[in-house]
Amino acid sequence: VSKAAQLYRETADLLGSGAEARWMLDAAMPHLGIAGQEVPDDVAQELRRMVARRRAGEPLQYVLGTWAFRTLELRVDRRVLIPRPETEQVVSCALEELRSAALRPGPTRTRTRTLHAVDLGTGSGAIALSLAAEAGLDGSPPLEVWATDDSADALAVAGDNLSLLACTDPQSAGRVRLAQGSWFDALHPGLAGNLDLVVSNPPYVSAAEWQVLDPVVRDHEPREALVAGDTGREALETIVSLAPHWLAPHGSLVVELAPHQAEAVAGLAASCGFAGVEVRSDLAGRPRALVARRSRE
Ligand SMILES: C[S@@+](CC[C@H](N)C(=O)[O-])C[C@H]1O[C@@H](n2cnc3c(N)ncnc32)[C@H](O)[C@@H]1O
Repeated sequence: VSKAAQLYRETADLLGSGAEARWMLDAAMPHLGIAGQEVPDDVAQELRRMVARRRAGEPLQYVLGTWAFRTLELRVDRRVLIPRPETEQVVSCALEELRSAALRPGPTRTRTRTLHAVDLGTGSGAIALSLAAEAGLDGSPPLEVWATDDSADALAVAGDNLSLLACTDPQSAGRVRLAQGSWFDALHPGLAGNLDLVVSNPPYVSAAEWQVLDPVVRDHEPREALVAGDTGREALETIVSLAPHWLAPHGSLVVELAPHQAEAVAGLAASCGFAGVEVRSDLAGRPRALVARRSRE
């Protein structure tokens, strides 16, 4: 039995999961693979450190240090929320809105104007980098994506992920700009009235809900990435009510929310003057994203 296979068995036993053991071995020794005969001591030690962290309750994604999101492999650590599958769906909604925006003539009646998008509370950069990587297909108009966060720590992680994207896909990375600040305060005032898309997965957990979250989440992911305030709707309300000022006349707002918030937030969007307001469901059929357009066309 090779040392790698033995290590795999030990790791799987300790974690009680063959799948997690496989993930960790792949992360600790990406070039060796389980078939490798020898495992250098420093690699075995690193693996033991990872197992200890996981056994102490840390989320698998932080222990691995990277996590897949749509087409990207993102660095993640405790400075940022772990990107979730439901947010991948939010990106699909946002890409759809950008495609519709690309078909509309711009103010100069040309189709080559630059589209402007903003991801508020970008965290690891999951949404903004995905938009940059996936919206720029051949023939689509130029795109500029602002990735904002009020946490300097989170923006540092987004910056690392942007640098990684720049290594493999410099053209997509060149579409992204980072900016620090609270929600729309991070943006240059000249963008007001010019955004084709505002997208956000803001904190939407209430302070009381946070107390009873799964400890894997509550004790490790940043509280400020999860908790909005006493109702949980505070950040959503700020973003929905300020978005009309920043969006172009045909611009769209896409926000992730919890199912029980959908009705209230959709009502708020309608009262803020959005003409077309829809709530979209995730793969499990739960209402998870609000799509609101400034005009009905
Ligand atoms: C739920 S996390 C989303 C992270 C990432 N967009 C994703 O979907 O995985 C919310 C993010 O909003 C940021 N945030 C919290 N309050 C903010 C504020 N007032 N202004 C800007 N960003 C804020 C947090 O730092 C965190 O990165």
